[in-house]
Amino acid sequence: MKVIAIYHNKGGVGKTTTVVNLAAAIRKKGKRVLVIDLDSQANTTFATGLVKFDDEQFDDIKEANILQILQSEEFYPISEIARKSNFSSPEIDVVPAHIDLMKYENDLISLDYSRMILIEKFEEVENQYDVVLIDTPPSLNLYAKIALIAADFLIIPSDLKPFANQGLVNVKEFLKTINAYRKQIRKQPIEIIGVLPCKISTNNQFVKHTLPQRLEVIPNRYGLNVMDTIIYERDDLAKCAEKIQMVGNLEIADPMSVIDFKPESTSAQEFELLAKEVLRKIGMSS
Ligand SMILES: Nc1ncnc2c1ncn2[C@@H]1O[C@H](COP(=O)(O)OP(=O)(O)OP(=O)(O)O)[C@@H](O)[C@H]1O
Ligand SMILES: [Mg+2]
Repeated sequence: MKVIAIYHNKGGVGKTTTVVNLAAAIRKKGKRVLVIDLDSQANTTFATGLVKFDDEQFDDIKEANILQILQSEEFYPISEIARKSNFSSPEIDVVPAHIDLMKYENDLISLDYSRMILIEKFEEVENQYDVVLIDTPPSLNLYAKIALIAADFLIIPSDLKPFANQGLVNVKEFLKTINAYRKQIRKQPIEIIGVLPCKISTNNQFVKHTLPQRLEVIPNRYGLNVMDTIIYERDDLAKCAEKIQMVGNLEIADPMSVIDFKPESTSAQEFELLAKEVLRKIGMSS
């Protein structure tokens, strides 16, 4: 089982979009995939269709999400919290997040084992999954730390714009503290697969003249690899996440991965390429 965190401390660069659609693409290659949402915004939880209630009094996630996994050493194994999601076919297991994560962050910080517990709970599902993808918050908080301590690999999605680039300096500083912690617990440093260009404009002039410069800056100025695959800005990607369904007269979110929504679209093909690249780079055949 290989664990991949998708992280950048800049918001809105395509982390959640990458997690959800990459999960679908890897699942379709026959791998057993687990998705974990570690962001209190719970965007992956929404994007995988786990939020089936329209009114918070029917919230069935509050008592069974990643927070319970992190709070209890003894109870709440991953197998009890993960839910089957059909945002993609075949189904994918997803551990949801909840807005409560925010409220309990300080409690968890004072719990000695909170940074280790995900590693322990992964051991119990080692034989159930091939790939685990973790979505993270756009911050340097405890939940981002937990993800980066537990993961084997890191993908850094970025729109390659100036603020995202400046954020890479923070990411690198953060990784230093993470790797120092990992060393204490005898874990190898996290392996950076690379910066994944996301939400890239398809404008001809931009692609021809500006994009090559933006790609060059990443290794030259920040010393990070850029991945081979590029995820361009495409309407289908935003649309498939916002699909809704009417149940009686209730509007229920019915999101899909772009590969399920439009298998022949350019966007679907980009995620298939990404899945191939990722599997190759983590040493798994596709
Ligand atoms: N390649 C793309 N083409 C079109 N829209 C995109 C693309 N990638 C992301 N988006 C849209 O941009 C917005 C932000 O994307 P996303 O939620 O994946 O970013 P994020 O990094 O997870 O944000 P946050 O830091 O808030 O968690 C979303 O509305 C999403 O639908
Ligand atoms: Mg997100």
